Amino acid sequence: MSAAGGRRTVVVIHGPNLNLLGKREPATYGSATLQDIDTVIRALAKELDCDISTSQHSSEGDIIDAIHAAAVAGSAIVINPGAYTHYSYAIRDALAAVDVPKVEVHLSNVHAREEFRRVSVLAPVVHGVVAGFGANSYLLGIRAVVAMLDK
Ligand code: DQA
Repeated sequence: MSAAGGRRTVVVIHGPNLNLLGKREPATYGSATLQDIDTVIRALAKELDCDISTSQHSSEGDIIDAIHAAAVAGSAIVINPGAYTHYSYAIRDALAAVDVPKVEVHLSNVHAREEFRRVSVLAPVVHGVVAGFGANSYLLGIRAVVAMLDK
């Protein structure tokens, strides 16, 4: 049950360029496609008995709208903001504005890569960050926010 007593819901937001997974820099991001990742997310939703929706957005505005909609619905948020992680104050403000469990996830270990990827302007306004575990980063992030909804 969620804090409001209803069914627990999680909104997973995939950011820009993640629709290219499978073909995109496989040495860094692996061979799984976004559809493959959504399939394991759906399996986890069944296991945890919660509702999880996933969507991919290339533009900042669409991500912000998805964050607002998740909060209105009382859903937890798991977000891989892609490169917006490193510079989007607009997405930071959107995440800061919503009072729901929220976790930032990354497939790659951003701290082991280029200097600019070591900075997340979003990390200070989410509950936690999971990075470096491929698709499993999403699953760990989902488990974390569902545990928060259960509290
Ligand atoms: C990423 C890391 C970002 O630096 C990059 O811009 C991405 C993917 C990841 O999942 O590892 O698009 O968020």
